[in-house]
Amino acid sequence: MLLRIDRYPAAWMLLGVCLATTAPGIRASDTRATATGAKAIAAQGDAQRGVPPCAGCHGAEGQGNGLAAFPRLAGLPARYLRQQLETLADGQRNSAVMSSIAKALSPDEVSALSAYYSELPVPASSPQPAGSDPAAAAELAEHGRADDRLPACVLCHGRRGVGIGDDFPPLAGQSATYIANQLEAWKAGARPAGPMGLMPRIAAKLSESDIRGVSAYFAAQPATRDVQP
Ligand code: HEC
Ligand code: HEC
Repeated sequence: MLLRIDRYPAAWMLLGVCLATTAPGIRASDTRATATGAKAIAAQGDAQRGVPPCAGCHGAEGQGNGLAAFPRLAGLPARYLRQQLETLADGQRNSAVMSSIAKALSPDEVSALSAYYSELPVPASSPQPAGSDPAAAAELAEHGRADDRLPACVLCHGRRGVGIGDDFPPLAGQSATYIANQLEAWKAGARPAGPMGLMPRIAAKLSESDIRGVSAYFAAQPATRDVQP
């Protein structure tokens, strides 16, 4: 499938149908049962099973740590977080740091931790430096590049990257290094394609300097809870 902007509305509807029919929602009863447990694992981990506290890397508020490429988790969609933990656990997504942690969690804990982090308030992001050519990066992020049939990032990730719905995660205020690492992972085939294989096709069209630029651009945008519906 070629990436054509005029096809997106149809693609989105298709995506919505696929996800609605294949992805089970988090049942309220599951999360209620383990919400306290999720908070405890986030803050203290579970030493007996070798699970380190999530807060040690992702921050006490789930705010992440840009310097160390630890992503923000607070306010990300619960379904998205759960899917990432599942693919990290089953080896489709590979991270030297996260894979073994995800493997040690039970399915209930994965659901409860995903709900816990998605409900945390979005922390104010600390200002991050703009890249070397901020105007070119902003142009790519907001308008794409028609010659390469590269759609604007904000088409799917929302105005200034605040995220859209359950399936298009926010990029605003996310660690620049983390964003760049994910784009590199898709280029290298090291992260699963995700919904409709959208991101690998996009990442393949980005040069090294595009990646540095858009990563810095989104890292510098204010994170907000104002996720577009
Ligand atoms: C030792 C540091 C460390 C600890 C502890 C840790 N993480 Fe992570 N986590 C990372 C790193 C690094 C990544 C990024 C992996 C990558 O680049 O693909 C990550 C990625 C993630 C992601 C994917 C985010 C996204 O936007 O796709 C989720 C979800 C996650 N971690 C949840 C957790 C949870 C829940 C815990 C606690 C049980 C935890 N992490 C503990 C370092 C850590
Ligand atoms: C056609 C829709 C679409 C467009 C356009 C798009 N993305 Fe995405 N992006 C997605 C989807 C869907 C995901 C979730 C992938 C998954 O679930 O693994 C995603 C995920 C990401 C992630 C991972 C976030 C995280 O927390 O791990 C990054 C980084 C990203 N996109 C960057 C970009 C950049 C930069 C652009 C523009 C050059 C862009 N995207 C354009 C659909 C899109």
